[in-house]
Amino acid sequence: MSIHKKEHKKITTHVLAEMKSRGEKISMLTAYDFSIAKIVDDAGIDVILVGDSASNVMAGHETTLPITLDQMIYHASSVVRAVNRALVVVDLPFGSYQGNSKEALASTIRIMKESGAHAIKMEGGEEILESIRRILTAGVPVMGHLGLTPQSIYKFGTYTVRATEDAEAEKLINDAKLLEHAGCFALVLEKIPAHLAQKVAESIQIPVIGIGAGNGVDGQVLVVHDMLGITNEFSPRFLRRYLDLYQDIKGAVQQYVTDVKSKDFPNDKEQY
Ligand code: KIV
Repeated sequence: MSIHKKEHKKITTHVLAEMKSRGEKISMLTAYDFSIAKIVDDAGIDVILVGDSASNVMAGHETTLPITLDQMIYHASSVVRAVNRALVVVDLPFGSYQGNSKEALASTIRIMKESGAHAIKMEGGEEILESIRRILTAGVPVMGHLGLTPQSIYKFGTYTVRATEDAEAEKLINDAKLLEHAGCFALVLEKIPAHLAQKVAESIQIPVIGIGAGNGVDGQVLVVHDMLGITNEFSPRFLRRYLDLYQDIKGAVQQYVTDVKSKDFPNDKEQY
């Protein structure tokens, strides 16, 4: 008898590397809870990111800074329970790795042990290399994240496009190479010019997943609440909305309120 839940070709970091080498684009979405993660996984997504964007879309904070390691583990373990096929990657939240590499490893071990996720993601380049190396030494796959790194929003001051100036673009290319060399299995590039993202994707072997980074990279990621139109006030140019769930859910709730008030619900068939 198999101890595995279902037979699926599971997505691993090696599968992602193969996808890049044969030119197959990688699909990635965020999820933070069991029910959405189940739909997203059943739909055939390659990678699910338990992003620290949960701080915004689940908890209503203005930035990603307040979310805690315990809260990320709660979200990640809910997602892992739903997933059969996708690779589940979890963000190390702000404050759980910047102190030193031992702290970074301790936070990573908690995520891996307590949630059952498959990999972690962390924001930054050269300045977090020692932590990345220590985490990799423990056998945990690491995804990098460069460009707009929301945990540094108070350093940047705005959420506008990054690396439009030569010096920042050169640092980004250098950081991407350092992350690859250190052993990261993939890299997220957020909100940078498309030509720069393509240049990075062509100059490193690991998959590069873009958000607001154009079509010349190896895959795309969006925040699931944004692409489903649950969040209706956030409309950056890079976002394609596939549904308008804000309106659909609001309409359904309005109908329910009307049905309850008018005593239409429940009807004879909807009771015991
Ligand atoms: O937290 C998140 O959702 C992310 C994506 C925007 C890449 O890091």
